Amino acid sequence: MYQIECESSPHEWMLGNAAMRIQDSRAEIAEYIRANKEDIVLIENCTAATASVIRAADFRAGNTVIHLSTAYGMVKNCIAHYASASGAHVVEVQVEFSGKEMAPVGRNGDSLELVLAKTIDEAASKGSHVALVTIDYISSCPGVIMPVHAMAKACKSRGVPCLLDGAHVLGQLKLNCFALEASGVTFFMSDAHKWLFSPKGSAMLWVTRSAQASVHPSVIGAVCSNSQLTSFRPEVLRNLSDYEVRFQYTGTRDYTPMIAVRDALSFRKRIGENSILGYNHGLALWAQNWLSTIWRTEILVPPECTAAMAHVRIPVQSFSAALLLNRMLKDNKAMHIMGFSLPAREQFGESVPTHWIRPCMQLFISRDDVRAFGFAVQELAPRCESVASCFTKWQSVSRAKCPMITPCIATALAHKITLGFSVTPAQTALKQDGSAHELAGGSRMQHNAARTCAVAAVAKYSAGSLGSGGQACSIAGEIMRYSSTSQAFPLERKYKFSEARDTQYERSVYDVGQSPNSVIDIMGTSSTSFTDA
Ligand SMILES: Cc1ncc(COP(=O)(O)O)c(C=O)c1O
Repeated sequence: MYQIECESSPHEWMLGNAAMRIQDSRAEIAEYIRANKEDIVLIENCTAATASVIRAADFRAGNTVIHLSTAYGMVKNCIAHYASASGAHVVEVQVEFSGKEMAPVGRNGDSLELVLAKTIDEAASKGSHVALVTIDYISSCPGVIMPVHAMAKACKSRGVPCLLDGAHVLGQLKLNCFALEASGVTFFMSDAHKWLFSPKGSAMLWVTRSAQASVHPSVIGAVCSNSQLTSFRPEVLRNLSDYEVRFQYTGTRDYTPMIAVRDALSFRKRIGENSILGYNHGLALWAQNWLSTIWRTEILVPPECTAAMAHVRIPVQSFSAALLLNRMLKDNKAMHIMGFSLPAREQFGESVPTHWIRPCMQLFISRDDVRAFGFAVQELAPRCESVASCFTKWQSVSRAKCPMITPCIATALAHKITLGFSVTPAQTALKQDGSAHELAGGSRMQHNAARTCAVAAVAKYSAGSLGSGGQACSIAGEIMRYSSTSQAFPLERKYKFSEARDTQYERSVYDVGQSPNSVIDIMGTSSTSFTDA
């Protein structure tokens, strides 16, 4: 609708009509987050908002900038970029997760606000001015609600500006910007295109009045043209502060996502804000309890730190298996779930990293979807684990036996068969085509490629045997034999899954596959965040 309005009269649209509508959206969002409209500007995304705030902060040689270890990658990158250009120091405050009984804490179990306060004081004691502290409201991955008021108070009492990254909070939590400001938040940004139901390219930036003078958009726009006859309509800008005017128009672009924020909010009103938040939160809590029970694993944080993103440990031991599982869920079951790894939690006696998923709950997800997902993981996890461990064994043996050819093998595997783990860094492996499908059914054997490469044939063999369970050792034995020869493994030997069929389960998977509910992570993120921990 707004795009039609724009295209039917682009000139009027760009020089005033869009701006009028953006102001309506600002007014609605101000009411929604309990803030003054004058302190809020609409912006394309949190990435742009971060750049605006960081450029306004006092980054200079000898100054310190602090962020949490959970800060979103873009925030860390942006801080690192401006810090290295200016000579400022960057300090990261570690966040630790201590299980479902306890909110996230800092290193050694101290509260995050205490650790943050100590970090600021330490910098000050060395004569370094703290230019900015960045904290997450709901961190990205894991998606955990942080003790933001307490941390903001630690900043305020020390006179340090605080950027609150609330990319995930609009539409996930009830907000009170007046309260955040009273605690000490200086800048607060949030996306409307994540949870609020607004189109991509819509976000907001709130800045406390006293800091607005130095905040500029990341691209400098203009509210004028070179002709006085065709300039921005003056009445649109009447009574706006410089800060508001600066963000009003940043060049010819699509402003309709920002304008649609208003419609997203009125849609939410129709459904009922409490119903949306209550349904999503309730489903997240139920999902993490149910999944952790059937998988016999655990939940990451207590209910009060959970909004609409659940966190459950997946029943696999290795990173390779986790990565493979994530890929197979996506390719074979059309279930895309954000996954992540946590370093070993020493306080729990762990010596290896653990692997988790972060399903996002939204109105169109039901308990049946969660159940289908839970059963799919139950079915696939042991296979992924067995192929991952088999492959790792083979890798270590082949390395020991023929160290010279191992690098060639790795490359061949990456290019020809790509099991999706171990041999290449995660992202590269994920980009390779076809492996998960092959793992699932051995259906798309690439005979030509494989014939030219004994190693590829051997690896295909291990992949094709995934479903037969319990064969890992014998397979490993065969792999070892073949990996030390140049002889091609007999490709005609095909292995089929011998899975137990559960009709109830199949029905639910079918339902899920046929409906939009199949995408459990509604955030539309396109890759996993499994990283080598
Ligand atoms: C915590 C957090 N901050 C910032 C961003 C960046 O948001 P955008 O891509 O809309 O700029 C994200 C994106 O996922 C995020 O999760």
